[in-house]
Amino acid sequence: MDERMMSAEEQGMEDSLDQQIRPHKLQQYIGQEKVKKNLQVFMEAAKMREECLDHVLLYGPPGLGKTTLSGIIATEMGVQMRTTSGPAIERPGDLAAILTALEPGDVLFIDEIHRLNRMVEEVLYPAMEDFCLDIVIGKGPTARSVRLDLPPFTLVGATTRAGMLSAPLRDRFGVLARLEYYTESELSIIVRRTAEIFDTDIDKEAAIEIARRSRGTPRIANRLLRRVRDFAQVKGDGTITLDLAQDSLEQLQVDRLGLDHIDHKLLYGMIEKFRGGPVGLETISATIGEEPDTIEDVYEPYLLQIGFIQRTPRGRIVSPACYEHFHLEVPKQ
Ligand SMILES: Nc1ncnc2c1ncn2[C@@H]1O[C@H](COP(=O)(O)OP(=O)(O)OP(=O)(O)O)[C@@H](O)[C@H]1O
Ligand SMILES: [Mg+2]
Repeated sequence: MDERMMSAEEQGMEDSLDQQIRPHKLQQYIGQEKVKKNLQVFMEAAKMREECLDHVLLYGPPGLGKTTLSGIIATEMGVQMRTTSGPAIERPGDLAAILTALEPGDVLFIDEIHRLNRMVEEVLYPAMEDFCLDIVIGKGPTARSVRLDLPPFTLVGATTRAGMLSAPLRDRFGVLARLEYYTESELSIIVRRTAEIFDTDIDKEAAIEIARRSRGTPRIANRLLRRVRDFAQVKGDGTITLDLAQDSLEQLQVDRLGLDHIDHKLLYGMIEKFRGGPVGLETISATIGEEPDTIEDVYEPYLLQIGFIQRTPRGRIVSPACYEHFHLEVPKQ
């Protein structure tokens, strides 16, 4: 089964497990040291001034902890978090309803904020800047604009595509935080922490093995841990040893670098059909039957990070490191 495609029911179960393992305090949030240190200062300063924290934009690839961090900001500031997303806010009125329902100091979390439409964005500007709403009442010549005060709040926006945010929106965030891929040792700490919550014994080397194959991503680390834990329960005595972790990960078709069969399909597709490129995103998409957006958001960032593909003005190319990983010869140009 593709780890990244789930039925609604499976998704529901994963979500409730997710709640258990999601860190709630900054101290439990592993890694991202620079972001954490800065946020800590900004939060402390805001608390000392009895103001709310300035608006925060969190960006980076999926599963690195944006939603989690937003929740932590709310907890640490001692306020509620209201959650919505860019595509869910269709009309300016929808946003007005959300904003007027906020309590003073609340965190408003807008996921996929790059997908807000223009009209909604225009309402957001004065709300972010002056905590007010400009509402037009009536139509035609009798229409008039009324200014409504809002409670002060902190907007936390999350996006996998900072580049798609309009400049005026991006400029209204006082704090910009880019989340980075996690190191192997950070991920192994996350794996061990999650195993402890699950009451599962795991050897240190086994945690490192899972971490190594998690594409720098906590969500993947936790997901692989759950699957390996299933194998440990059924095939072993419940303890996750290095051997068991390795065998289970083989069984799950996750390779040494954490690449799974979709990554393989993508890379092999580029190698076999296009001699390693350059090949355009749309063409790759048509070849492997995945949406261009999904390729760009989910699969490609890690492959770029580990240097397996490169972006050039003429399209994507497969790099020699990737050929080496697959024990293939680099084609002559
Ligand atoms: N720094 C961290 N320490 C421990 N666990 C983490 C950390 N960051 C993320 N996680 C875990 O990884 C999972 C995914 O994190 P989260 O949902 O916050 O990612 P995201 O960046 O919002 O992803 P998306 O872009 O897909 O919305 C969470 O369930 C959380 O438990
Ligand atoms: Mg999220």
